[in-house]
Amino acid sequence: MEKTLFICKPDAVRRGLVGEILKRLENKGLRFLELQQRTISEPEAKEHYVEHADKAFFDDLVAFITSGPSVLAVVTGDGDVIKIVRGIMGATDPSVANPGTIRGDLATIVSENLVHGSDSMTAAQREIKLFFPNLEA
Ligand code: CMP
Repeated sequence: MEKTLFICKPDAVRRGLVGEILKRLENKGLRFLELQQRTISEPEAKEHYVEHADKAFFDDLVAFITSGPSVLAVVTGDGDVIKIVRGIMGATDPSVANPGTIRGDLATIVSENLVHGSDSMTAAQREIKLFFPNLEA
């Protein structure tokens, strides 16, 4: 079964939205192979967001994702789990995310968009290995 890395970012934890967010994934029929609350370290953040290293917002992105506890999950289920999770999340920018999605319903700005989900099979494998190195592929 396909797996993806899913993060409830520090804004989701601070706002008490973790239960609401995870419920949406569970209601869809997805399940959690791993579920862990912890603060992402700076080296982990820089590695996780390496594709954004040349962007102007990179330092702010790293500061934000390391600013408090996140909830990290490996999500699985039937079907194209990566695509399904990204559909539930909604567009990266909450101002254009559709109503009914996590970001469309619960967030307003791109820098605090509550959640992260791997965007491809390659990314999912890399991100799961980074945060859950002991999980079997
Ligand atoms: P995420 O899916 O975690 O992947 C990269 C993140 O960069 C993205 O969600 C946004 O939270 C963040 N991001 C994208 N564009 C901007 C921006 N213009 N300013 C600040 N953060 C951004």
